[in-house]
Amino acid sequence: MGEQIKYPFLDLKASTAAYEEELKAAVLRVIDSGRYIGGTEVEAFEQRLAAATGVQCAVGVANGLDALRLIFRAYIEMGHLAPGDEVIVPANTYIASILAVSDNGLSPVLVEPSDDTLNLDSRLIEAAISERTRAVMTVHLYGRACHDSEMVDVTRRHGLLLIEDNAQAIGARSTFNGKTTGALGDAAAFSFYPTKNIGALGDAGAVTTDDEQLAATVRALANYGSDRRYHNIYIGLNSRLDPIQAAILSTKLAHIDDEIAHRASLAAIYEREINNDAISKPLYSESGDMVWHQYVVRTSNRESFRAYLAEQGVGTDVHYATPPHKQPCYASTLGGLSLPITERIADEVVSLPISRCTSVQDAHDIAAIINKYTPGK
Ligand SMILES: Cc1ncc(COP(=O)(O)O)c(C=O)c1O
Repeated sequence: MGEQIKYPFLDLKASTAAYEEELKAAVLRVIDSGRYIGGTEVEAFEQRLAAATGVQCAVGVANGLDALRLIFRAYIEMGHLAPGDEVIVPANTYIASILAVSDNGLSPVLVEPSDDTLNLDSRLIEAAISERTRAVMTVHLYGRACHDSEMVDVTRRHGLLLIEDNAQAIGARSTFNGKTTGALGDAAAFSFYPTKNIGALGDAGAVTTDDEQLAATVRALANYGSDRRYHNIYIGLNSRLDPIQAAILSTKLAHIDDEIAHRASLAAIYEREINNDAISKPLYSESGDMVWHQYVVRTSNRESFRAYLAEQGVGTDVHYATPPHKQPCYASTLGGLSLPITERIADEVVSLPISRCTSVQDAHDIAAIINKYTPGK
């Protein structure tokens, strides 16, 4: 190809440069502290995250997948879940959501998304409930809070745990009750993978909850299963949040409103200016339930559209071309499922640039470029 990428999909170096001095100071603080596991930086970040989310407890862990895995594992240790239990999960998600369930010997039950929100369709939850169902996982995909009266009602009536995969939607709010993602269910997992709206400079994650016992169980499990030094009550793992990442995340978290506002300003331009019948825009919202982790359009001509944009210097990505049930690792368990809405979404989605490294002028330019696209060319 060799096209000049004038509008990169994402440039992490440029995104980091926006906070360079503060980030360097944060890293130096850890270097000078002599404390390289746990300590005040991790505690301070946990407190900041809990306060920003509006929950009692936050536990820093090594990454978002571990945050989810540890929630399920902790519920098993606490006797609320048992291997073989079923967990309702959205079919249209990143595979990590499903891995966390199956990794704990639980059985994922995949439910189709709404074609508008691309998130779990709560009207379909009840029909998927069996005698073994114990939990529902809601995933706030692309930054859109997935939480409504139907989800709250059905989980309450059936006594199900509600677990949030909040890897992509830090700072979003439920239109149902105005609470922040991470505070909408019994427990939530965050990812701070570098590309996320609040990204570490490496792997990092966290669990939030109002349940102190759950938080203590997650914390012990993530620290070799020990509740105090050299005393192991669980067969645990090592999945702690690194203090350098905690210091970086405290710095980034202080700028979350700016981060969300910048993304919202780009989404508003795309919404106003993209006007091409071959391209469907995402459901637009200014209610705070969408923090635009991704701006995902749909087209039945994905390859030609992406090739055209690449020629015009616009970088794009696809989240995600293969849904979890079509991945080879699930061939023998989920591979036979027919999930036509999820499969069509996977064939059509294209993510446009929407990050710190995309300027307002870039968004105007990209919209104009998209408007000149003719399918099939
Ligand atoms: C929806 C979703 N869940 C879970 C994860 C896992 O997070 P991590 O990459 O930090 O393990 C990710 C991100 O990668 C994600 O997008």
